[in-house]
Amino acid sequence: MQKVTLNNGVEMPILGFGVYQIRDAADCEQSVYDALVAGYRSIDTAAAYMNEEAVGRAILRSGVPREEIFVTTKLWVQDTGYENTKKAFAASLEKLQLDYLDLYLIHQPFGDVYGSWRAMEELYREGKIRAIGVSNFQPDRLIDLIVHNEVVPAVNQIETHPFHQQIENQQFMETHGVQIESWGPFAEGRNNMFTNEALAGIAAKHGKSVAQVILRWLTQRNVVVIPKSVRKERIVENFNIFDFELDAEDLAAIGALDTRESVFFSHRDPEVVKQIGSLKIHG
Ligand SMILES: NC(=O)c1ccc[n+]([C@@H]2O[C@H](COP(=O)([O-])OP(=O)(O)OC[C@H]3O[C@@H](n4cnc5c(N)ncnc54)[C@H](OP(=O)(O)O)[C@@H]3O)[C@@H](O)[C@H]2O)c1
Repeated sequence: MQKVTLNNGVEMPILGFGVYQIRDAADCEQSVYDALVAGYRSIDTAAAYMNEEAVGRAILRSGVPREEIFVTTKLWVQDTGYENTKKAFAASLEKLQLDYLDLYLIHQPFGDVYGSWRAMEELYREGKIRAIGVSNFQPDRLIDLIVHNEVVPAVNQIETHPFHQQIENQQFMETHGVQIESWGPFAEGRNNMFTNEALAGIAAKHGKSVAQVILRWLTQRNVVVIPKSVRKERIVENFNIFDFELDAEDLAAIGALDTRESVFFSHRDPEVVKQIGSLKIHG
């Protein structure tokens, strides 16, 4: 498996498996198990996905040695702040049945993220987390966090796919040593991603699927990807992306699909900030 090296020297698989919206515990456990059997060695969950227990059970059931798996989870907005973050981290570890985490991300740029970051810096220095990072941070929020803290985030996980390519944002992050990680590589199928004419043409040319073309395009750009599927055949399909290469013509055609806008929502929309900020995942 191809890996990226994070700003602290830790290696992270460039391709992993995401479990957002797999709320059913049995489905989640089975898909993570299928992914590990298929060869995935990186799993992306979050406290807010309410499936950390199922991920933990699948890891144990797979029999894959712990040190071979890169596990990411995320801190929810409700749990931001120094003390809350320490508690939320301990709760996530317990649910995952792990004694250390590979990557802990601040899920959203809202709430007391500075208090959280100080707690995460401590947990990182104590060796309980191998790398710490953020998610959904726009360049202004990211640079503010960098300037006012000691540890530079290793990763920023943001919406990145053919309709929202994040080219300048990636350059900005790379300048500051922050690895870009894509969420929603298929935009969850929005805007007819899987039947897009340009992508379908490239897929036919290489004898691959549209999903494989998208994941190859992102990984060729050095973007970490974590596609989600609950179907075994797609889990395997999404893993088989390293036996072909997109050429300059393909890259130009995909480049032309960029709308430079989210197909979901803006993290800068006050209504969204309010809605996400009031979403409670526990009492
Ligand atoms: N940090 C954040 O705020 C944030 C936000 C969203 C997501 N994420 C992370 O990023 C991961 C990926 O994003 P996502 O789950 O939102 O969306 P996604 O990976 O872009 O799309 C998943 C959708 O595509 C379908 N699919 C998967 N492989 C396919 C294939 N080969 N052919 C056709 N359809 C396919 C899946 O259906 P089936 O399951 O039925 O196959 C599912 O409906 C998440 O699981 C999560 O870990 C993070």
